[in-house]
Amino acid sequence: MKTVLVTGTPGTGKTVIAKKLSLLLNYAYFDVAQFIKKAHLYSKYDRKRACYVVEAKKLVRELLKVREKALKRGEKGIIFDSHMSHFLPCSKADLCIVTRCALKTLSQRLTKRGYSKSKIRENLDAEIFDTCLVEAVDNRHKIVAFDTTKKKNFKLFSKRIIRILNRRP
Ligand SMILES: Nc1ncnc2c1ncn2[C@@H]1O[C@H](COP(=O)(O)OP(=O)(O)OP(=O)(O)O)[C@@H](O)[C@H]1O
Ligand SMILES: [Mg+2]
Repeated sequence: MKTVLVTGTPGTGKTVIAKKLSLLLNYAYFDVAQFIKKAHLYSKYDRKRACYVVEAKKLVRELLKVREKALKRGEKGIIFDSHMSHFLPCSKADLCIVTRCALKTLSQRLTKRGYSKSKIRENLDAEIFDTCLVEAVDNRHKIVAFDTTKKKNFKLFSKRIIRILNRRP
């Protein structure tokens, strides 16, 4: 079974890309944010930052269980959609996709969502500092970055992903 991680700053297009790929590849799609809420994996809700506080180690432990279950179900692959998905160990993932977006576009997307000024600032900073990408590199993942600023290049990108996933280990 293939394991694909889709990470990136909030609003850069992880969910759009992960869902498209899951349909194209016939892999299971796994919404980590929904799972965190349902399974109460957070320690608290940070009102100021408007987000759930999640311990990475605990999350990884639970996601590895989800992966095992998918493996037992006989899934062809599983795609984890989360800005924390890159915390999974590289030994358990075939590929880590990092979504990127131009700052102006990202700011517009987050404004459209009704995010507060400070939350938009925090996410723009995360994109400027490439936080997810740097952490994914630190975790020694095989990385493919994808810029979602413009809609049109998904076809070429998906062909590249298929080629990488079909390569022998
Ligand atoms: N490839 C794309 N081209 C154009 N617009 C896109 C693309 N991908 C995403 N978007 C736009 O960006 C918005 C945010 O995308 P999405 O919800 O997938 O981000 P996300 O990374 O999953 O965010 P979060 O971390 O908050 O879940 C979408 O509502 C869509 O309008
Ligand atoms: Mg999302």
